[in-house]
Amino acid sequence: MGVNTMPTQRVGEKIWTIVVAAGSGTRFGGAKQFELINDRRVVDWAVETARAASDGVIVVLPATHAEREHGVVGGASRSASVRCGLAAVPADATIICVHDAARPFASEFLFDEVVDAICAGADGAVPGLPVVDTIKFISNENVVISTPNRAQLVAVQTPQAFRAKILREAHSTNPESTDDAALVESNGGRVVVVHGDPLNRKLTTPEDINWARAITRGEV
Ligand code: CTP
Ligand code: MG
Repeated sequence: MGVNTMPTQRVGEKIWTIVVAAGSGTRFGGAKQFELINDRRVVDWAVETARAASDGVIVVLPATHAEREHGVVGGASRSASVRCGLAAVPADATIICVHDAARPFASEFLFDEVVDAICAGADGAVPGLPVVDTIKFISNENVVISTPNRAQLVAVQTPQAFRAKILREAHSTNPESTDDAALVESNGGRVVVVHGDPLNRKLTTPEDINWARAITRGEV
């Protein structure tokens, strides 16, 4: 007889993850999601953990890769790509996570943390890290408007988890944002923050991939 290790609060939940990997990597200078870290591409690292942490995974890819890799074709913006993924998530999914392919070192534990927060009643859950710099809110003319209290700021990561119906509603008017939590927040949803992970860095510039390769070689 097998041992059922599913936490009680997860009974009846169907957890799906959308990995968005359809960006063009402008700041990197190319499609960073297909760069190698050791023997695997950046996207493969992200998808492997997503698969371990979810009942199913949808990978959103550029048109050049989607068919060959059994993914779905992305859109012109990150939000549009998330919507391409959402259209492929089965209707019986109850919790949907959205994860950036550009974060290869998100842990299965981090997925569990954000999913558990949804099971506990939140509409959305995001990993957040304390901000070390003082952050200024500025105008288009580079004039400081205000200085938010740093103690109330966090830098957020993915995976971000949501009650499926709430994420679908938040995307229903085709809004744009750099993350999904913002769309749920502006719809009145309650988004909670769990402890982020410094290792879960987003690869944005070539310097970031050098860091990622060094990490896997035990050099950092
Ligand atoms: N992404 C996507 N579709 C887009 C834009 C972004 O699927 N149209 C994905 C990226 O592949 C990445 C994640 O969203 O995994 C976070 O985006 P970002 O780090 O900004 O990646 P890029 O948009 O590719 O990079 P840049 O902004 O420098 O062009
Ligand atoms: Mg981008």
